[in-house]
Formats: sequence, C-alpha cells, structure tokens
Amino acid sequence: MSHSHNIPFLDLVTPHVELEQELTEVFQKAIRTAGFIGGPVVEGFEKAFAMFCDTGFSVAVSSGTDALRFAIMACGIQPGDVVVTVPHTFIATTEAISQAGALPEFVDIDEQTYNMDPEKLRDYLETQCTTEKSGKLISRRSGRPVTAIVPVHLYGQMVDMDAILELAEQYGLIVIEDACQAHGAEYFSRKHNRWMKAGSVGRAAAFSFYPGKNLGACGEAGAITTNDEALAAKMKMLRDHGQAKKYYHDVEGYNGRLDAVQAGILSVKLPHLAKWNAQRRQRAAEYNRLLATADGGVVPPYEPSWSRAVYHLYVVRTEDRDGMAAHLKTAGIGTGIHYPIPLHLQKAYSSHGYKVGDFPICEKISGQILSLPMYPQLTAEQQARTVREVLDFARSETAVKPALSESGELATTGRTA
Ligand SMILES: Cc1ncc(COP(=O)(O)O)c(C=O)c1O
Repeated sequence: MSHSHNIPFLDLVTPHVELEQELTEVFQKAIRTAGFIGGPVVEGFEKAFAMFCDTGFSVAVSSGTDALRFAIMACGIQPGDVVVTVPHTFIATTEAISQAGALPEFVDIDEQTYNMDPEKLRDYLETQCTTEKSGKLISRRSGRPVTAIVPVHLYGQMVDMDAILELAEQYGLIVIEDACQAHGAEYFSRKHNRWMKAGSVGRAAAFSFYPGKNLGACGEAGAITTNDEALAAKMKMLRDHGQAKKYYHDVEGYNGRLDAVQAGILSVKLPHLAKWNAQRRQRAAEYNRLLATADGGVVPPYEPSWSRAVYHLYVVRTEDRDGMAAHLKTAGIGTGIHYPIPLHLQKAYSSHGYKVGDFPICEKISGQILSLPMYPQLTAEQQARTVREVLDFARSETAVKPALSESGELATTGRTA
C-alpha cells in the first residue's frame, strides 16, 4: 500500500522554517561581529535557561554527554567510584560516567514508568553494598565506593525523585539528574509541597540540545544546571581547558564550550518551549484517548499523578513490537525503539560481567516498546491514522501472541482475533 501522506517519526523542518528569519539573523549577527565563541549571547542563553529550569545557574556546553561528564567531575566523584544508574537509557549516560573515570552500576526500572525504580535502588543499597567502619559505602560487586546516583528522566518524564533523594540522603550519595530528554518536565515534591522542574532537584543536572530534543539546537549543544555557584564555576573551568583566566590553567580541562551561534539559536527557540511542551502533552492526551478504545493489546505510557511529563517520546508497549513497527513502516508511518538493547547487555559493557536476567523488567520491555510519531506540529489527522494502523495491527491475526494487560503484564488468555 502506498501513502501520499507519510507521517514522519519526527518533523524537524517545520519549526525551523517557521523561525527561519530569526534563526538566520543569529548567524548574520555572529558573522558581522565575529562573536563565535563565548560572550554575551552564550551568557544570555545561560541566564534564560537557568530561569526556565528554576535554578540559580546554567553552564552551556557542547553536548549533553559533556554536560553529564562535567557535572559528575565537578561534583567530586573520584576516579574509581561507582555511580548508580539504569540500564534503560541512551549509552551517553554511562559513557559520561565512565569517561569521568567512574564505574556505572545498574538498578532495574519500574515496569510502568520505565524509569529508575526507587525500590530497586533501595534493594541495591541494602543488599548489594556494605558500609565500612569509616562510613564508606562499598559495592560488593566491584569492591569500589558508591558515591553518586544518576536518575534518568527518560522520554520526558521525571523519576520519582522524592524517594531517590531520601535514599541519597540516607546513604550520603550525590544525585545528578540526566535531564537530557526532560526540558520542562515537573514532578510534585511531597517534601517541598510544590511542583519542581527537571534540573532543579539534584546537585546538578545535564541537558542535551541535540536537534531532536524538546529544545534543540541546529547542531550539537548541551547545558548543566545547578543552584551551587561554586559548582557552576568549576564546570565553567572544565568546559574551557581548566582556565578561569586565559592561559592560567588550574586544572586540566576540556574543549567543551557551546558556540555563540548555537546559543543564539537556542535563545530564539527557548521562548517557544513551554508552548511546544504543552502541545506535546495535548498530543499525548489525544493518543491516550484514541488508544483507550484498544482491547488490551497496546499499553499507553503511564503518567503518575505526581508527574507532568513533556513527552519527548510517546512510547507504547505491545507484544509483537517488531511486527507492529514493520506494519507501520509499510503504512508510511515512522517509529523508533528507545532502546532495543539494555546497556548491561551491550557489547561495549561485556567486560562488566552482567548477564541476561540481571535486570528482567528492562530486558522484557526493551523487546516490547515502540515510539510513535511525537512532535508539537503533529496533527489530529496524523494521530488518528497512526492509531488506526496501530489498532488494525493489534487486532489482526498477524499478532497472534498474547496481549498485554493494562498493567503491562501478559494476559493469561491469548488473543484470538
Ligand atoms: C538520556 C540521555 N542522556 C544523554 C544524552 C546525551 O546528549 P548529547 O547527544 O547531546 O550528547 C542523550 C541524548 O542524546 C540522552 O537522551
């Protein structure tokens, strides 16, 4: 079947064409002033982004990966320390941990939110670590000190941070948020009795402005947020060859600055972010409504009452995921899988000694998740056609495997039609 109106997984052209004149002016200004690196445009964006995230400071860097690496290093995590995260994330999370000299160790995810499960973290800290007389927490697995946690706000939904922060306080661990997919996401803090933004909760947080993100540059870009001025100063040194004053290098740093053209582009787009996030939430609500007519074969994303997700991705679960992806491809509808192979089973980490069965929830859902088209400009017609095809497939005889129940468990009876 051929379709004249294909539905892309992501439309990156429309928002840029809409802002073309303002975006072009940024480049023109950079050319006319030769202000390419640093300067007032970068500082202006940093102030605006910190304000958007409800944080005191933001430090603009060259990517989300650098943001996370610099945050980990500046927070004082030492080479050889263990940093706890999840296996269900993009590899940049663990690359940043490893490249800061630390060792990633994993805890499994929650089956409904797909984010770090605080109970699994508690279990890890209670049963897989020992506390030395000195008070140091040691991982039994690696024999190394556990000093930090990196919760990942995946798909645009924040982790259950109250529970994570409580455990971190109890065990003296530093929390660094991977907010690379969660610009503007919020969770309701029971402790503070108010909604809190991604990036404002941990000691520091990393954001990515990769073009496809909710706030994307026209190239590579990232930022760190923190409320700690001294920490922000350290991060600024790390991104700029370890110097606060030109050619006076206090430490060995990196070339991790954000250039002024990207900062200018991000400054043009930032005022639209809240509106774009609201549109994503509306699109998600519409998908939920359309999918509610499904007969149990397709599980929509779960948003707890304490969460306001910004739907960087809209991810459903279905038993015959690969079959559904192929069906949608034939129908001219783009999809993605985020992510097909859990990190602990990636070849890159084969020397870390993990095996199949170590993180069963993550392993199970990685074979079932499918990301549907999601962007602010997605139309109601495109959504209706997408869900029609999703449901056609789910109900068809092609999908002969048992359906998933609402809770995501396999139903005891198989689908018959
Ligand atoms: C969860 C997560 N962490 C880290 C990163 C790294 O960001 P970047 O691609 O800007 O380096 C990304 C984005 O790609 C991400 O999705």
